[in-house]
Amino acid sequence: MNLIFLGPPGAGKGTMAKRLSVSMNLSHISTGDLFRAAIAAETDLGKTVKGILDSGKLVPDSITIEIVRQRLDSGNLESGFILDGFPRTVEQADALSHISDIDRVLNFRLTEYEIVRRLSGRRLCSKCGAGYHIEFMPPARDGICDRCGGELYKREDDGEESITTRLGVYTEQTEPLIDYYRQRGILIDIDASPEPDTVYANLLAALN
Ligand code: AP5
Repeated sequence: MNLIFLGPPGAGKGTMAKRLSVSMNLSHISTGDLFRAAIAAETDLGKTVKGILDSGKLVPDSITIEIVRQRLDSGNLESGFILDGFPRTVEQADALSHISDIDRVLNFRLTEYEIVRRLSGRRLCSKCGAGYHIEFMPPARDGICDRCGGELYKREDDGEESITTRLGVYTEQTEPLIDYYRQRGILIDIDASPEPDTVYANLLAALN
């Protein structure tokens, strides 16, 4: 099964994609993670996109589409995949339609108030990448990962200014994809506001 996870920043797409990819044996392809890995490795791509990610703007379509094309061409996707954070513009969606078939688009819905709460409280493990929230999913020990003992950090783009930019970018460039996929009859709305186990159960029910 090939899925797209669509929704505003901080709606919980990554959290749910990690769980669903394990339970359904799907490959989790996050364009944000691919860019952050390139930044950490200090590749040419990483140097090009670092400032863009930190500011909360979108990486140009040509670069993003090429990265996804390469990932989908690289194989090892027999059971299917979850595209998390791609497409984010109509141009990306049009390009994707020539690269791969998509079965379902899960549209995560959350109010702006909750989005800001989730993003400003998010913490990630610097060693294993596990995700936490200081209020909703706190680690047992402050600032320390439960799984591996790594130090937790806040993403550069989870500051107030970047969050405002990301929300504006989402409304202007990504929200039109809701109608785009609804018109194609493959969009399912998911209420992202309940606690994680409930969102996950609703997600499974929607896919069945
Ligand atoms: P990306 O990494 O994709 O960021 P995003 O879309 O802004 O999404 P987030 O990762 O912020 O949120 P999420 O929905 O995954 O939420 P999460 O599960 O972490 O992209 C980053 C940047 O890369 C972009 O700004 C852009 O520059 C670039 N980029 C990426 N894709 C691109 C593209 N296609 N085109 C161009 N540029 C692109 O959850 C958030 C927090 O809430 C966590 O702390 C979590 O623990 C908590 N939480 C999750 N679920 C719940 C729940 N149910 N209840 C309470 N708390 C919850």
